[in-house]
Amino acid sequence: MCGIVGCIGIDYPVEYLIEGLKELEYRGYDSAGIAVMDEEDLKVIKSVGKLKNLEEKIKKIKFKNPYMGIGHTRWATHGKPTELNAHPHKGQFGALVHNGIIENYQEIKKKLTKEGIEFISQTDTEVILRLFEYYYDGDALKAFKRTLDEIEGAYAILLITKSDPDKIFFAKNGSPLIIAKNDGKFYFASSDAPLIGYANSAHYLEDGEWGFVENKLHLFKEKEIIPSFKPLPTNKESAKKDGFRFYMEKEIYEQFDVLRENTLGRNTKEGIKFDELNKSFFEGIDNIIISACGTSYHAGLVGKYLIERNAKIRVNVEVASELRYRKPLLNKDTLFIVISQSGETADTLETLKMAKRKGLKTLALCNVDNSSIVREADKTILLRAGIEKGVASTKAFATQVMTLWMLANYLGGINEYDAINEAIEAVKVDVSKHEKIKRLSKRYLHGHGFFFIGRDIFYPLALEGALKLKEISYIHAEGYPAGEMKHGPIALADPGLFVVALLSKNILYEKTKSNIEELVARDATTLTISSEYIEMTDDFIKISGTNHPLVEFFEMMVITQLLALEVAIRMGNDVDMPRNLAKSVTVE
Ligand code: M6R
Repeated sequence: MCGIVGCIGIDYPVEYLIEGLKELEYRGYDSAGIAVMDEEDLKVIKSVGKLKNLEEKIKKIKFKNPYMGIGHTRWATHGKPTELNAHPHKGQFGALVHNGIIENYQEIKKKLTKEGIEFISQTDTEVILRLFEYYYDGDALKAFKRTLDEIEGAYAILLITKSDPDKIFFAKNGSPLIIAKNDGKFYFASSDAPLIGYANSAHYLEDGEWGFVENKLHLFKEKEIIPSFKPLPTNKESAKKDGFRFYMEKEIYEQFDVLRENTLGRNTKEGIKFDELNKSFFEGIDNIIISACGTSYHAGLVGKYLIERNAKIRVNVEVASELRYRKPLLNKDTLFIVISQSGETADTLETLKMAKRKGLKTLALCNVDNSSIVREADKTILLRAGIEKGVASTKAFATQVMTLWMLANYLGGINEYDAINEAIEAVKVDVSKHEKIKRLSKRYLHGHGFFFIGRDIFYPLALEGALKLKEISYIHAEGYPAGEMKHGPIALADPGLFVVALLSKNILYEKTKSNIEELVARDATTLTISSEYIEMTDDFIKISGTNHPLVEFFEMMVITQLLALEVAIRMGNDVDMPRNLAKSVTVE
């Protein structure tokens, strides 16, 4: 995810900007840049790739008494990781960095283009700067406020401009931004880590706050308000995890933001749009094969239910390591879809190459732009999940399922705008529910194994819930279709068998309930996740009573992730780096 730094009133701002960006590297990025104001000019330096590339470029620049600057690390979401798309964006007389999403950027772009204003990047961010410069008529503060009044969405913004060269303008809505100070020096960052060691106290901006720093901080909401500075934390490692115990926990909590990013510009009131695709790409396609591994394979299974149901196209989902060696029959009327968080999974990549050799059209759903899979596929839909540090995939899975849902609707011409937004809301972590899961987890440490059960789309979710739990807790867990238990696995039922039942109100409710009853009758210990309370279960976690199964899906997904997390923490395991596993599996 992108990172922001800025500073004013210090002798050599370039040092803080670079050191600050280094502290944000852990968030992942594919380009970076800084904008520095010195006595001569506003100098913008950007580069693709690692920060050392940027540092090399900076070494060649001569600054004459620089006194303020802004910086940014970017993870490509809207537009490729190129220098033009990297921040800071430079306008006629200003430079700007932004984290978040400008939801109405296309409308603003259209309006400004009509006025003859040219855009040089593919980003939503550029519209903020262009709008500011369009409104500037000698009063930068007024133009900045007018810009803020017009943009919609989430943002943390820093802006510097030669037209008012002693101020840094800032604004925050939905994306984090912090202003810290020390002895008349002011520092900005999108999280604590860059600030530690430079400043001693910080004002954590609230949504709707904006203003500027010029010798002192001027902070506004409806009117000018007084900032409340608090001491900064001192532990950098904990600051990098935004105070969470593990990256995985942070990533579970991030899913709301990540899904908003994933659906931006794609889930529209008029239906699903993918800038990356055109309908002609699908001409002549009669069926789909999805190839993936692990969690991505589970997302693919959900995709099968959704695409067959919503688009009426036959789908087969294949474990890539099997597919690549079984000499499959591949025909040109098949669209070959690969799903991968990393874009580097060897088995998935090999199946993609195999499909291309056979002349199939290929589409990748991937989180890492420029990865091997993205380079190989004909078309790519980026997942926009940001870097995922926890080995156990969480937010990437959420974006994979969401992307498949949108793809199913795109192919089927179905508009579920409101349901998709409801599903995004459903992944917001309810802290009291998390507390309950934390308490409950202590009862699930000593059995002889777990079954996760569900039907329909809740079956792949059961597989994924079981995978999450076994990966990080090292407890045996299996996912099963609820209706299949009686064909063998129910022989294991006794009080030491823990069953997590995903009981949807909307799909096969009575049938799944009967499957739970069968397990209860054989004394299995059951934890039911549902909106409908059932008396017989040992433990119960309530979800909201939505009428859409995918909204239930996403809410249950978060609960299974938190359950795995809390059990693993109680077992004393390193949740982010489980034994024997690697984040990117580049070997067979
Ligand atoms: O990067 P990919 O999505 O291709 O990775 C596939 C699997 O290796 C991955 O999902 C793995 O199962 C994770 N450890 C799941 O948490």
